[in-house]
Amino acid sequence: MRIDIFTLFPEMFTGVLSSSILGKAREKQLVDFHVTNFRDFSESKHGTVDDTPYGGGGGMVLKPEPLFRAVEAITGDKKPRVILMCPQGVPYNQKLAEELAQEEHLVFICGHYEGYDERIREHLVTDEISIGDYVLTGGELAAMVVIDSIVRLQPGALGNQSSAVEDSFSTGLLEYPHYTRPAEFRGWKVPDILLSGHHANIERWRLKESLRRTKARRPDLLAKLELTDEMKKLLAE
Ligand code: ADE
Repeated sequence: MRIDIFTLFPEMFTGVLSSSILGKAREKQLVDFHVTNFRDFSESKHGTVDDTPYGGGGGMVLKPEPLFRAVEAITGDKKPRVILMCPQGVPYNQKLAEELAQEEHLVFICGHYEGYDERIREHLVTDEISIGDYVLTGGELAAMVVIDSIVRLQPGALGNQSSAVEDSFSTGLLEYPHYTRPAEFRGWKVPDILLSGHHANIERWRLKESLRRTKARRPDLLAKLELTDEMKKLLAE
C-alpha cells in the first residue's frame, strides 16, 4: 500500500512513521509513505498557500492551486481516494479503517488554516474524515490516527495476526481483561480460571467479560449486535 500525505508540517510525521509497528511495516515494505510539503507547489515566490476569504470575514483560506498541483503531480491519471482531514467529515471508526485498509493507494490532505477553498472539497477530495467532535490545530494528528489504524490492519504488520481480528470494534465487543505473571501482585490475584488450563472455560469466561464490559461501558455497541443464545445466557449469569 502507498500512502501520500500533503501537509505544511512534514516534520510532524517523522517519528510516527518510522517508529513501532508503522516503522516495521515500512521496513517490511508492506507500506510506502511519501510526505510532501504542498508549499513547494505554490506558484508564488514567497510560497503563499493561503489567502483572505472572498466576502470578507476573519481567518485565512487555503488556496486551491498548490494543493491541486501537488496532488495531481503524484496521482497523474490514477484516481486514488483523496482524504481531507477535517472536523466536518464523517466520523471515523473501525469499519472505515477496514475499508480503507483494502486500498492500494491513499492520499491524505492536512490543513492548518481556517478553511479550505470549497473547490478543493468538491473537485479534489473524495472523502472527508473527522476523528471526533473536537477541533485540533490541524489535520496532521488526525491523519496519523487514521494512518496508524490502517497500517496495523495490513497483513503481516502485527506480529500476531489474530490480534487485529480479535480487536475491540472488529468483533463489535470491547476486549476482555488481560493478565500476565505474577499470578499474585500486592495481594491482587489473577482469576483462577485463567490458571486452570481449561481452554473452553477460559474462552467462555473471556466472552462473558467482553460482554459485561461492553454492556457497562458501551451499551450503544451492544445494542448494535445480534446476540447469540450463548451470549444472552452469559450476560444473564
Ligand atoms: N482537523 C481539526 N480537527 C479535526 C478533527 N476532529 N478530525 C479530523 N481533522 C481535524
